[in-house]
Amino acid sequence: MNLKNNFDIKYKIPKPKNYKKYNIGIIGAGNIVENSHLPTYLDHNLNIINIYDADTNKSKLLKDKFNIQKYSKNLDEFLNDKSIDIVDIAVPAKYNKELFFEALKYNKNILIQKPLSDNIKTGLDILKKYQETNLKANVNHQMRYSPSISAAGYLIKNNMLGNILEFNFYTKRKTDWSIWPWLDKIKYPELWYNSIHYIDTIRSLFGEPIKLNSKLLKHPNSNLDKPTRTYINFEYENNLYGSLNINHDSILESDMWTAGFEIEGDMGVCSGKISSMIGDGKNFKDNISFTSKNSDEPLVFNKELDGRWFSDAFIGPMFSLIEAIDNNTQPETNIADAFKTLKLLNLIEKSHETSSIISCQ
Ligand SMILES: NC(=O)c1ccc[n+]([C@@H]2O[C@H](COP(=O)([O-])OP(=O)(O)OC[C@H]3O[C@@H](n4cnc5c(N)ncnc54)[C@H](O)[C@@H]3O)[C@@H](O)[C@H]2O)c1
Repeated sequence: MNLKNNFDIKYKIPKPKNYKKYNIGIIGAGNIVENSHLPTYLDHNLNIINIYDADTNKSKLLKDKFNIQKYSKNLDEFLNDKSIDIVDIAVPAKYNKELFFEALKYNKNILIQKPLSDNIKTGLDILKKYQETNLKANVNHQMRYSPSISAAGYLIKNNMLGNILEFNFYTKRKTDWSIWPWLDKIKYPELWYNSIHYIDTIRSLFGEPIKLNSKLLKHPNSNLDKPTRTYINFEYENNLYGSLNINHDSILESDMWTAGFEIEGDMGVCSGKISSMIGDGKNFKDNISFTSKNSDEPLVFNKELDGRWFSDAFIGPMFSLIEAIDNNTQPETNIADAFKTLKLLNLIEKSHETSSIISCQ
């Protein structure tokens, strides 16, 4: 077999040509905005012009740290800033509905953090409201834009693996949940705040399952008295079967943690590394390897990839939103799409709580 490391695999996120046309204002000045949204947006030279947080000290801090033109002292002042085209909302999900409805009233396009809502009912309220407007809204499901996932998507789309028969996505690491005290009030925080990424990614690669079976389990060593281990089997039409295996309380040293996936079809196999979930998130690079019999001569390929889920992939949903506004189309992870991810979370809970295989249709 040929080892072909010059095989051209397209996994980088394209930049919209009119990205400079739009001004962005951010609601929320917490962890994720400081460590992921702002550094990534500024790396890509986006126009960030205003920031508002319920805690004014935090808005001020990030305004100064990232040289943002201004901060707003309250929501009213922020939404009355007519120069804002896109409102990027990143606060705990229980506030999403109210902020989403308010931002639409002021004719703002919206990027909103996942989960779309902390329950299916308000998720549906947000979806219905979205269906009444011509403004564009996208949800920050960005794992599907991370390098190894995006590379796997390219292989699947270009039929390098043939008909997909099985997949396994996994992560074994140790997570300290204490930096998000508000998770205390959530019944299944791991599922709704971490595994949601993998579930959205699995949907983006393989579509909608017809059945699923899940277990959401606690770990005796966790600092969270809630399930931190998620095990799900997904069944699809066309003879495809897959699994998700997540454990946030691995006893291994951090550089021995594992995070990645294997996907096998009838013409090829690929595996990838999700570097952000291993070590301090920066010790390793994303990687993709595959073997395919679906070309003139059998191919074997192994490549380190540029960028990471955290935080390079955060540009994906924002660029997708900008393209959608520019071309009057729907962004990739729009509200209707994100609602499907939310519905799966609900079915996963139901399968766990009833110890049964659940139909997804
Ligand atoms: N996509 C991802 O990978 C990812 C990663 C981490 C967090 N998140 C999401 O981002 C959101 C925020 O997470 P975080 O880690 O930054 O949390 P955080 O607790 O660090 O920050 C939340 C911020 O929101 C502010 N806030 C709360 N209610 C508000 C309101 N009504 N109006 C304005 N500001 C308000 C708080 O003052 C705080 O500064 C959560 O929904 C979480 O799910 C996404």
